[in-house]
Amino acid sequence: MINSSKGREHWANRVGFILAAAGSAVGLGNIWRFPYMTGEHGGAAFIVIYLIAILLIGYPLVVNETILGRASQKSPVGAFKALAPNSPWWLVGALGVFTGFVILSYYIVVAGWSFAYIYKVIIATTTQGIDHAQVFKGHITSVWEPIIWQAVFMLFTISIIASGVVNGIQRWSTILMPILFLLLIVLIIRGISLPGAGAGLTYYLKPDFSEVTGRTLLGAISQAFFSLSLGMGVFITYGSYLKRKDEIPVSTATIVGLDTIVALLAGFAIFPAVFALGFAPGAGPGLVFITLPAVFAQMPFGLIFGVLFFVLLGIAALTSAISLLEVVSAWLIDEKGWERKKAAVLMGLVIFVVGIPASLGYSVFSDFSFPGLKTDLLDTYDWFANSIFLPLGGLLSAIFVGYVWGAKKAVNEANRGSSLFTIGKVWVFLIRYVVPVMIVVIMAAGIYDTFIK
Ligand code: TRP
Repeated sequence: MINSSKGREHWANRVGFILAAAGSAVGLGNIWRFPYMTGEHGGAAFIVIYLIAILLIGYPLVVNETILGRASQKSPVGAFKALAPNSPWWLVGALGVFTGFVILSYYIVVAGWSFAYIYKVIIATTTQGIDHAQVFKGHITSVWEPIIWQAVFMLFTISIIASGVVNGIQRWSTILMPILFLLLIVLIIRGISLPGAGAGLTYYLKPDFSEVTGRTLLGAISQAFFSLSLGMGVFITYGSYLKRKDEIPVSTATIVGLDTIVALLAGFAIFPAVFALGFAPGAGPGLVFITLPAVFAQMPFGLIFGVLFFVLLGIAALTSAISLLEVVSAWLIDEKGWERKKAAVLMGLVIFVVGIPASLGYSVFSDFSFPGLKTDLLDTYDWFANSIFLPLGGLLSAIFVGYVWGAKKAVNEANRGSSLFTIGKVWVFLIRYVVPVMIVVIMAAGIYDTFIK
């Protein structure tokens, strides 16, 4: 194989891994999806369940995947092949590559909207009496404009992946993540300093558990998977660029912590402003594209903050999209001996084409609806990927480590490399029992609530 003979590329340092993986985790999931999921599922109660899901399922699985990657020095398909030769377990890796394909295909649609809104928000905040729902609808129901932005976004993603692990992924994550953090802080200060912001804080921080159903639980778990980039091998792939002596427990805890903090902070940037200006929080996927521009339009210096917000969203999306394209490309590089540039360009193009129907779901294919889901095509991609494929991938990789490859081996592997704290019995218990049982029960409850009830 071309690649292994030259030796595998590794992160230049520990911060590189942390920022790249945090860049993958922090994305549209935190700034677009988390706030509207919270808004749709009743506010703080959803957040509490989400945090429990992160602790009991999210973090253990991030460690799980990272170990598989570092131990095998391979991306998902190769990792399972290396650790369980001559068995069908590589199919779990293949499911991951497939899921990455699906997620990236619609992810770039929303990312494209974010790019377009960097200038659309200027029009939206400076035109008197404009209908913000209409502006958004006008954008997504036009055929070409969203597809062009989707293509522009994909070109950025391809060019970063084509430049390699250190020169592409690590370099851009290290540049973009601090900017993202700074922008977020600026937006929070603006939001909570508006008169009337308190109502938003109350809504965001006071849990009401009366509305919690199976759908809420599945919503929280799907959000945990999506936000942490879990269940399809991003952490296997990024873990495979760790050197065998690199530390895992603390680095991964830092990544999970950063992702959770940014999601919570995004809520602080959005809800106080939404309430202060008299809007409702339950707008669904349109929350950041309809409600927020309306908020910016009424806020002092709203134009500047509006542009900053969509720059923030675009940056967050970019450092996540690269991780999705990396998993898919790494499969070709590791397993088929492809050259990196060729893999990135070809897969990027194919995924772009697969995403076109998701974009046209608001125009040409607007009549489509999957039986029982009552959503548009893009949300259908999203639902299958996040409510089925990712939890399934997480479930199978937990079973693999807990029962097939062996929890003991995994613990030894996790703890190699000096660390402030180590992984032990609690982690094994979570991986062997809590994670599989919770995933199965929650998936069953959510599917029942969605299709049967
Ligand atoms: N976590 C990213 C976000 O929050 C999206 C993402 C990137 C992702 N890679 C992934 C989601 C892998 C699931 C699986 O926007």
